[in-house]
Amino acid sequence: MKHLIAPSVLSADFANLRQDVEMINNSEADWIHVDIMDGVFVPNISFGFPVLQAIAKHAKKPLDVHLMIVNPERYIKQFKDAGADVITVHYEACTHLHSTITAIKQAGCKAGVSLNPHTPVSVLEDIIHELDLVLIMSVNPGFGGQQFIENTYSKIRKLKALAAGKNDSLFIEVDGGISSKNSQALLKAGANVLVAGNSVFSHANPTDAIAELKRTSPEVFQA
Ligand code: DX5
Ligand code: ZN
Repeated sequence: MKHLIAPSVLSADFANLRQDVEMINNSEADWIHVDIMDGVFVPNISFGFPVLQAIAKHAKKPLDVHLMIVNPERYIKQFKDAGADVITVHYEACTHLHSTITAIKQAGCKAGVSLNPHTPVSVLEDIIHELDLVLIMSVNPGFGGQQFIENTYSKIRKLKALAAGKNDSLFIEVDGGISSKNSQALLKAGANVLVAGNSVFSHANPTDAIAELKRTSPEVFQA
């Protein structure tokens, strides 16, 4: 599968959100990554349903909604109704993860689980076959523009091994500190969805930054 690019609107210009969503619509991006933060699970608050609905109104690509909130099971239907296509919850925020994943799928969305940098992929051993997506955090969640954590490569390789034979169509998404500097190594390790906020929106031409990430090949060509 050709890898997917999901620009994160957390780094967009919130006063011109429609313009940034249209930039993504007209780019080579595949999904639009939307970060929901509650100030409890993570030490930051981003935005909630009205902003998600406003994004959905203009988006022409699937909305990949990353919930960094406690008790996400309380809001699955509301996120679906607000426009989510993919809903990812944090392993660390779910006591009854299986039931939350089932509810996301019953709502008609793709279901994902995100792991914080300290959480080993082995905790997903008995649920991996039920998941559409695993999101490996390559920074501590809460803020855009942080430095990429190098241990992520080994986690991606372990996740790929865990999924082999049990879920070969799994989306392996990585989020945090991603740019064209590390995109090739991430794809080579086994990632197939790359989220990028700061490296896209701080670029002089965000459309080009997205195209560059999309063009990345996992193959290493040597002259
Ligand atoms: C961080 C969010 C990310 C964030 C990534 O908690 O989950 O999606 O937007 O931003 P960059 O690419 O700037 O690290
Ligand atoms: Zn995110």
